[in-house]
Amino acid sequence: MGKTIVVAGGTDGMGRGIAEARAAAGDSVIAVGSSTRKGLSEDIEFIRADLSLIAEVDRVVAALPDRVDVLVLTAARFNPRRIVTADGLEATFALYYLSRYLLAHGVDAGLVVAFSAPGTTVGRVRWEDPQLERGYSAVKAQMQAGRMNDLLGVSVGAEKAYVLFHPGFTETNAISQYRQPMRAVIRTVEKLFAQPVAKAIGPLLPLIEEPPPVGFHPNDRGRPVDLSLRTFDPGDAARLDELTREIVRGRR
Ligand SMILES: NC(=O)c1ccc[n+]([C@@H]2O[C@H](COP(=O)([O-])OP(=O)(O)OC[C@H]3O[C@@H](n4cnc5c(N)ncnc54)[C@H](OP(=O)(O)O)[C@@H]3O)[C@@H](O)[C@H]2O)c1
Repeated sequence: MGKTIVVAGGTDGMGRGIAEARAAAGDSVIAVGSSTRKGLSEDIEFIRADLSLIAEVDRVVAALPDRVDVLVLTAARFNPRRIVTADGLEATFALYYLSRYLLAHGVDAGLVVAFSAPGTTVGRVRWEDPQLERGYSAVKAQMQAGRMNDLLGVSVGAEKAYVLFHPGFTETNAISQYRQPMRAVIRTVEKLFAQPVAKAIGPLLPLIEEPPPVGFHPNDRGRPVDLSLRTFDPGDAARLDELTREIVRGRR
């Protein structure tokens, strides 16, 4: 029997690649995106929601089936300038980290798959300034959210099967927020060095087909990542979990 698969960020890039591949294989697929369905196959259900907002994530969780087989978390957006959401949170933190925290905890899923960059050790959590009020840059925000994704995987992997997947450099629409001429420069670099979506998601599809057991499974382009890396520190994971609970508590 087909699986039920939810892809947060399933209308574009690698999330779309997974949504289309699994729908073609006969699964029942639900894709979430903030704008339109962008020509997604008609057999894929679409939920429009801005996942950078806590109330919107809650609405999506309430609309989903009680149990899903696989929850895929790919929604992310580069923010060249610092944006503050209606919840008063820095937008990269809100979408790339917090929406994943809420979805991973809120959805009863047999397997959670999140896209980020496990194995990368650059960047850090700014415990003293997690909303990056001082010295914001898009790279700093991305790196911090990446390290937060590492720690989220440690926490959620204690109770669910959780794959944190590094796809490598891939040609997608991730740079849509950049203005010209920067966008054209990045496109040129992509054309030269980035892989196509089908290649990027190739190592992941077998894990969706045959999920691993409960536990944290960081994976870099098909290879397991060393769990002893300092970016997976259990003490930091517990600290981030507590900080996140506080942030959410004050906003619901
Ligand atoms: N591309 C790479 O080279 C690369 C490398 C390493 C890791 N990654 C990671 O892989 C993941 C997927 O990247 P990608 O390049 O495939 O992304 P992408 O092409 O930019 O697609 C992003 C998806 O997220 C949705 N989205 C964006 N903001 C949203 C919001 N506020 N609420 C709901 N949905 C939203 C987009 O739909 P709408 O536009 O309609 O909102 C789209 O469906 C990301 O986590 C990224 O960090 C990418």
